Amino acid sequence: MGPRGRTQTPLAKKLYIKTYGCQMNVYDSGRMADVLTPLGYGLVEAPEGADMIILNTCHIREKAAEKVYSELGRIRHLKKQREDAGGKMLVAVSGCVAQAEGEEILKRAPYVDMVFGPQTYHRLPEMVAEASRAGGYVLDTDFPAEPKFDHLPVESSANVGETAAFLTVQEGCDKFCAFCVVPYTRGAEYSRPADDILAEARRLVGQGVREITLLGQNVNNYHGEAASGEVWGLGRLITEMADIDGLRRLRYTTSYPADMNDELIAAHGEVDALMPFLHLPVQSGSDRILKAMNRRHQVDDYRRLVDRLRKCRADIGLSSDFIVGFPGETDADFADTLKLIEEVEFIQAYSFKYSPRPGTPAAALDDQVSDALKTERLAQLQDLLNAQQLAFNQASVGRVMDVLLDRPGREPGQLVGRSPYMQAVHVSAASYERGEIMPLLITAAHANSLTGEQTSQ
Ligand code: 5AD
Ligand code: SF4
Repeated sequence: MGPRGRTQTPLAKKLYIKTYGCQMNVYDSGRMADVLTPLGYGLVEAPEGADMIILNTCHIREKAAEKVYSELGRIRHLKKQREDAGGKMLVAVSGCVAQAEGEEILKRAPYVDMVFGPQTYHRLPEMVAEASRAGGYVLDTDFPAEPKFDHLPVESSANVGETAAFLTVQEGCDKFCAFCVVPYTRGAEYSRPADDILAEARRLVGQGVREITLLGQNVNNYHGEAASGEVWGLGRLITEMADIDGLRRLRYTTSYPADMNDELIAAHGEVDALMPFLHLPVQSGSDRILKAMNRRHQVDDYRRLVDRLRKCRADIGLSSDFIVGFPGETDADFADTLKLIEEVEFIQAYSFKYSPRPGTPAAALDDQVSDALKTERLAQLQDLLNAQQLAFNQASVGRVMDVLLDRPGREPGQLVGRSPYMQAVHVSAASYERGEIMPLLITAAHANSLTGEQTSQ
C-alpha cells in the first residue's frame, strides 16, 4: 500500500511507494512524493509498470526488516519485465533498514538503484539524476547538519481528501533504550520550529483535515523555537494549535514516560481538542527489567503518571507498548508486567517478543530468553490486553460518542469513523460531509470496532 488514501495524480511518471513500520514512515512517504512531484512523478497504487518504486522500510524488529528482502525479490522480476519491454524502473530502499544496512542492501540486491536513510530524502532530485546515469547508483545514509525539513517543499498533495493526518514535529531519539535501533536509524532528537509546524497544520486544515496527530519518536520531549524566540514544549504547541479554526482534534505519539511534563499533563485537562487518549509505552512492569532496558523510569513513576493524567482528565484512555522476553526476564518479572496491566487497565496496546537487533547493547547480553518462552508469555500478555480492550469497547455500549467520519465502509450505505479513543465505529447513515463529527449512540461492541447509530441530538 502507498501512503494512506492518496489520490492519483495525472503526472507523466508513475511512482509507487510501499510503506512499512511506524506512522512517521507514512508521513515521510508523503513528503517523498512531494519532493518528486516537480520531477513529474505521480503516485500510483500498484508496482506494476511503475517508473520508480520506493520501499520505505522499518528496522525495529527482525521480522519487519526481513520483509524488505522478500519484497525486493518480487520487484526484481517487475524491473526485469519492464527492461525486457524496453522500459526503465528505478528501485529505491529508504527508511530505517536503508539507514542501518546501507551498502549491505546494494550487495544483496544489486538491482537496487538508490539506498537512502530517513534524513536525506529531500535530496531525492539529485539522487534520481545520479541513479539515472548509466551504471549510476546512490547510497546516502548521512545525518546532514541541516535538517531536511528546511528543504522540503512547502506545498504538499499528501492528505488531500483525508480527514486525519500525521504531522512530524520532532524526530530522533537520545534515550538509547538497550533494545532499540531508533537512535541509530533516526539520529539525535530534533524539534522543528513551532512556526513551521503551525503553518503546516493550517495548510492541512485548509485541505479539509480535521484531526492531526503530532508525531515524534519522543514527541513529548518536543522543545521547538517559536517566532518570539521562546522555546515551546509540546503542551504549549498543542495549546496554540488548538486555536486553528477548523482543527477539531489533536493527538500526539509516541511519548516517553520520563518526559511527560506538568504543562503537557495540564493540557489534557484544558485543551478540548486534545483527545482523551494517550499512547504511553511502559515496555515492562518490572523495575529490574526497566533498569536493564536503560529506561529512565521505574514502575511506580509510571503509576504516578497515570494517576496525574487521570486527575486532569478522568476519562483518559491509555495505550502502551510491551516487550516480552527481554534478556534476563524471569517468571517473576513477567508476572510484574501482568500485574501492572491489571492495575492500569489499558484500552488498547501493542506487544512484541523481544527481537535482538544488531548493534544494540541488549543483543549482546548472555541471558537471552528462548523463543518458546517468549511465545508463551506473549500469548498470555495478549489474552489479558485483548480482554481489557474488549471490556473497554463493551463499556462504550450505550454511550454517545463523537465520531469523526472519514470513509465509506465495506457495506453499501455504511460509513466508518473514529471515536475519541481511536476505536473504529461503523454506522449506517444516508449522507455525511467529509470531516463531519457525528454524535453516535454506540449499540454494539466487538474486539476491534464498535457499531453506532445516529441519535436525534
Ligand atoms: N524487540 C521487540 N520490540 C521492540 N520495540 C522496539 N525495539 C524492539 C525490539 N528490539 C518495540 C517497543 C517500542 C515499539 C515501537 O516497538 O515496544 O515501543
Ligand atoms: Fe521502524 Fe522505528 Fe524506523 Fe519507525 S522509526 S520505521 S518504527 S525503526
